Order: sequence, then structure tokens, then C-alpha cells
Amino acid sequence: MAATWKTTRNLHSSTLGILVTTLVVISLFYYLSGDNNRSSSNIGGGGGVLDEQIMKGRREHEQLPAGGCNLFSGRWVYDDKSSPLYKEQDCSFMVGDFACGKFGRNEFKYQHWRWQPHDCDLPRFNGTALMEKLRGKRVVFVGDSLNKNQWMSMVCLLDSSLPTSLKSVTWKGSLITFQALEYKVRMDFYWEPLLVESNCDDPVNHHVLDRVIRVGAIEKHAKHWTDADVLIFNSFMWWLEPNMTLLWGSFGSSNGVYKTVNMRLRRYEMALRTWSDWLDLQINRTKTNLFFMSLSPYHKIGEDWGKSGGGNCYNETEPILEKGYKGSGTDAGMMRIAEAAINDLKGRGLRVEYINITQLSDYRKDGHPSIHRRQWSNLTRTQLLDPVTYADCVHWCLPGVPDVWNQLLYTYIMRAN
Ligand SMILES: *[C@@H]1O[C@H](CO)[C@@H](O)[C@H](O)[C@H]1NC(C)=O
Ligand SMILES: *[C@@H]1O[C@H](CO)[C@@H](O)[C@H](O)[C@H]1NC(C)=O
Ligand SMILES: *[C@@H]1O[C@H](CO)[C@@H](O)[C@H](O)[C@H]1NC(C)=O
Ligand SMILES: *[C@@H]1O[C@H](CO)[C@@H](O)[C@H](O)[C@H]1NC(C)=O
Ligand SMILES: *[C@@H]1O[C@H](CO)[C@@H](O)[C@H](O)[C@H]1NC(C)=O
Ligand SMILES: *[C@@H]1O[C@H](CO)[C@@H](O)[C@H](O)[C@H]1NC(C)=O
Repeated sequence: MAATWKTTRNLHSSTLGILVTTLVVISLFYYLSGDNNRSSSNIGGGGGVLDEQIMKGRREHEQLPAGGCNLFSGRWVYDDKSSPLYKEQDCSFMVGDFACGKFGRNEFKYQHWRWQPHDCDLPRFNGTALMEKLRGKRVVFVGDSLNKNQWMSMVCLLDSSLPTSLKSVTWKGSLITFQALEYKVRMDFYWEPLLVESNCDDPVNHHVLDRVIRVGAIEKHAKHWTDADVLIFNSFMWWLEPNMTLLWGSFGSSNGVYKTVNMRLRRYEMALRTWSDWLDLQINRTKTNLFFMSLSPYHKIGEDWGKSGGGNCYNETEPILEKGYKGSGTDAGMMRIAEAAINDLKGRGLRVEYINITQLSDYRKDGHPSIHRRQWSNLTRTQLLDPVTYADCVHWCLPGVPDVWNQLLYTYIMRAN
């Protein structure tokens, strides 16, 4: 497969040579390490452990956990006293994509699970404390709709700490800006699903059939966020398309070079390299705190957790309790590429915190909107008769799982100097 790759640009050929070699090594590693195994799992079990946890009650502290504690290794504990952290209908700026209650979900167990790391407790989210910490600063979530999901969760979490007259949300092109005026805090979401430039960059009309990516170009986007004080990136789902076209040169120019490729890991790696080089050159290391969210798993294949009959997250109301569960909605190869990019940046003196949410989210097959969300187009008769076909098993209901991602982020931000 790699041999079919050919480029007409001398400038790129030597880097590509190295990349080809890297890809071969990485794919070998990927296949040899057996990560394409789908785990066959049992649901249930562990109920006793859960009850015990409920008895222990609320375990959230104001103190920040020590730096050495692995916050990502833990379990979900049912706790309707401390969760959820806000009510869906109290979030002033909520969008229909995540408002599951508003769109007919009528069992709310999914809102009552709290994340309990094995070796310490997560601190309680305190919106006022976060606003004080971020006073005068600009935070930008950069990425796809899952990052928007997280941004929305953050806005909901902060909402109750801020008086009505002193907050606003404005939408302008790819940028959505939440402002907490009293604290002069600006918290943005910037739509940039592939991080680099692509034909999916329109924040509304991005459902294109053929994805075309300028894999070496990021500035058009990056100039909107390079000056931020805190940057939170993500990018995963949009890379899963089997075929994508890479473009050297600009959109619409006559001498652009197009190449359609199906090498998922490699094109992701190329884009992350462009991203890394930009950060390395442009980010003010004393000013900006950088975060990268690990991939958010989806639950489209019920067989992963032992469901028969072609089901998915539709009608799921319980998390998966099997310890270390891994479904097919993650991708170890892609994660390794992201982790390698972050390690490489560390070698260049740039620290990016990797917020490892994949495992904890993978347990939460119950947390997706399923059919309870705003639909962007009218559903067909066939769809209506078979809800599994249009259930959203990718995004997350709010309140819900992304609140925990933000609790983790909160812990890191509060710890930072
Ligand atoms: C992410 O967290 C999971 C669960 O604790 C762990 O198994 C995995 O090794 C972590 N990955 C990294 C890169 O730290
Ligand atoms: C939240 O933080 C603020 C500011 O640091 C503090 O005054 C307040 O007591 C905290 N609230 C809770 C419930 O801990
Ligand atoms: C991807 O491209 C290959 C080779 O050009 C083609 O055979 C295949 O049908 C394409 N797959 C999809 C899903 O378009
Ligand atoms: C980097 O940020 C720090 C802190 O905000 C500031 O004092 C410094 O002037 C900045 N450096 C450059 C090169 O902009
Ligand atoms: C949904 O779940 C309920 C309770 O588990 C079950 O009774 C019902 O048959 C399920 N419906 C579908 C369509 O799977
Ligand atoms: C969806 O259905 C409604 C009511 O049936 C109709 O008014 C509207 O035009 C439809 N929208 C589209 C995009 O077809």
C-alpha cells in the first residue's frame, strides 16, 4: 500500500520517505499488538462493589489531589447526591444536540454517575474558583463537535456561578464565544475538526462526501487561537473516513496536487506534525497552557458489550461495569500517534497535558443522546420505524460524561501556575 504513494513535490518527498517507513513500522506494531481484537464482554457483575461505594457516600474534596495520582484510572460510582453538577434546564446556553431531556429522554440515571479515581478523589468543581483563576484570560477549545460538547459542558458548569446580566454567548463563523464579563474571562470554541485546513471547515455545512485536507496548512485557523492562555485540542472521529484526499497547494488553485489515500494512521500523523510544528514555533511557552483530549469513544456496535441483534447505544441505561472494557469505538493506533506527537513536543520543550478520557468514557454506553436530540434533517419513515438506525452514539448528553472531562481539566488548570 505504501508503495503506491507518490508525490510530485520534491519538497515533500524526503519527509514522506521517512513517514512511509514510520507508517510501516507503526502499522506492523498496530497489527502485531492485537489491538484490533474486539473484546467480548459480559455485562453485569460488580453490583455489590457499587452498593458498597454508594454507602461510602460523597467523596469529593476541595483539595487538589497530589500530582502523582492517576486521575484516569478509576470507576464509575452511582451517586445521586453529588451528581449531576447542574440541571439541564438551568443551562442558559444549551444547544439541542446535547439536551437529551428536552428531546424526550425520560430516565435520568445516566446523570448520576460520578468518576472515582482509584488512588485519590477528584476535587469538587467550583466555578467561582475557576473564574478567579482564569481572570482576564482567554480559553479556547479547538476541534470537532465532541470538543464543542465539552465546551458546552464547561459553559453549563460555570453558568450557575455567574449572574445572568454578566454572561453572554456569541456565534461568529467558526468561533463561538462565551464571556464572563465580571471576570473578563473569554471561553471559546473554534470549529476545526481535522486541526489542519480542510473542506469540512464550514461550521454548518460540513457534511461533505469527499474529505479534502490541506495536511500541511494550519495558519488560517491557528491565527484565531494562537494567543490564547489555555488551549484544549481534540481530533479523532473525522479521520475515520476510509478514503480522504490530501492536497498540496491551496483550494481552487490550478497547480494543487491531490492524492486520495486510505492510510488512516499516516495522514493523522502528518496533520499532527503540522499542528506540532505550529505550536513549537508560535506558542508562548510561559503564557499558554496546552491540553489534548484523548479520543472520545463511540458505542455503535452493541456486540462489543454482548448485545445481540445489531443494537447500539439506543435504549442503554447502564454503564459497562467490566473493568478495563475496550470496545471497537476506540482506536489504539490513533491514540499512539497522538501520544507520540505529544511526547515529541515534550522533547522540544513544549508541554501538552494529555487528558486521558478514553477508558473512562468507554464504560458509558448509557451516556449518549441516542434518539433524544435535535435532528438536523427530517427523519424518514424507515428511520422512525427503526430508531437504532439514527441513534447518536457519538456525542454525549449534558449533564453527563463531558462534565467529568471538565472536572479533570479543572484539576489541571487549578494546579497550573
Ligand atoms: C489512559 O488511561 C487508561 C486507564 O487508566 C490506561 O490504561 C492507559 O494506559 C492510559 N494511557 C496513557 C497513554 O496514559
Ligand atoms: C468556591 O471558591 C470560592 C473562591 O475561591 C470560595 O470562596 C468558595 O468558598 C468555594 N465554594 C465552595 C462550595 O467550596
Ligand atoms: C476507497 O478507495 C479505494 C481505491 O481507490 C476504492 O476501491 C474504495 O471503494 C474506496 N472506498 C470507499 C468507501 O469509498
Ligand atoms: C510571553 O508571555 C509572557 C507572559 O504573558 C509575556 O511576559 C512575554 O512578553 C511573552 N513573550 C513574547 C515573546 O511574546
Ligand atoms: C428497551 O429496554 C427496555 C428495558 O430494558 C425493554 O423492555 C425494551 O424491550 C427495549 N426496547 C427495545 C426496542 O430494545
Ligand atoms: C420537515 O418537516 C416539516 C413538517 O413536516 C416541514 O415543514 C419541513 O419543511 C421539513 N423539512 C425538510 C428539510 O424537509
